Amino acid sequence: MPRTVPLAIVGLGNVGRRVMQLLIDNRDEIRRRYDLDFQLCGVADSSGAAVFQNESRPAFGLAPKARGFDLREILSHKQSGQGVATFPKYGHAAMSARQLVEKAGADALLEMSPTNLKDGEPGLSAVEAAIERGMCIVLANKGPLVLAYERLMKNAARKQARLAMSATVAGGLPTVNIGRRDLAGSHIQKIEGVLNGTTNLILTKMADEGMSYADALALAQHEGHAETDPTLDVEGYDAAVKLLILAHSALDFHATLDDVERVGITGVTMADLARNKRDARVTKLLCVAERDNGRDTYRLSVKPTALPQEHPMARLNSHQMGVMYHTDTNGTIVATIEEANPMPTASAVVRDLINLYWQA
Ligand code: HSE
Repeated sequence: MPRTVPLAIVGLGNVGRRVMQLLIDNRDEIRRRYDLDFQLCGVADSSGAAVFQNESRPAFGLAPKARGFDLREILSHKQSGQGVATFPKYGHAAMSARQLVEKAGADALLEMSPTNLKDGEPGLSAVEAAIERGMCIVLANKGPLVLAYERLMKNAARKQARLAMSATVAGGLPTVNIGRRDLAGSHIQKIEGVLNGTTNLILTKMADEGMSYADALALAQHEGHAETDPTLDVEGYDAAVKLLILAHSALDFHATLDDVERVGITGVTMADLARNKRDARVTKLLCVAERDNGRDTYRLSVKPTALPQEHPMARLNSHQMGVMYHTDTNGTIVATIEEANPMPTASAVVRDLINLYWQA
């Protein structure tokens, strides 16, 4: 029998709904290949929460009662335009994400609420409650990590909770995993990355197709790449936040948003792009973490950069993102991904969830 893992989900937006769909579609394979059976016992969205309760034991001779929600029922409730607070029998309008974690009895939390860089809520409180319970936690939400990385990690170690965050930096591209796990023991001299899909789509469509800035931004919003507040993308905040998460997780360098030199793309004109093109250069919103000579500190920057066209990050098309790790003992590692929609991010959440248990 596969191991049953009671699961709580916070956030049912573009990523959260796709994660639910993946857990439905891949349930049999996850059971067979990884010996795991995830059962949804609680879910929260912006409307409130729903907590599964298995009230009665089955009468003799009857099939055992379900141990969690039918994911399809939750998804179709969401697709009908309603929040989980109105889910029949189990919905609670007044229940917060934190209370859900405290009440649901889950072993794992998937935290996928929108990034809030002001106070990290509601995700931060939900993650803290899960840490207190020694749970396995998967984040797709960057806010708690940017605001409280060191505190969360310290508390997680104290409570034997485990955190995974590979979905937070360029979705399905394993940027965190390469830097943190696969380069363990190597010294990373420099990271270069195109980590924000929205700005890469905008700059590439403007440069290659002459599309206007406004049309390209609307396309990014239509395809589900842009943040709810797209200022976070075009002013470089989202890219800076991702670079910070890489700094914390892969470089063990603990900085804040104020430490990142940040320039967005709103000042980039068609004329700039055309001039760079004539010079065989390609403009990307490049994230860089570069080691200070001889020290364990890094200079962090996010700014539009005219790269030579043969540079691996210059070659990325409008729907790709990429990362380069320059190291002392592993040479240079380049990874790229094509993300036409948020599915790879959802898939990264599922991979983190499986890996937390499968390798345990
Ligand atoms: N808005 C982000 C991007 C997606 O455009 O890359 C989530 O990280």
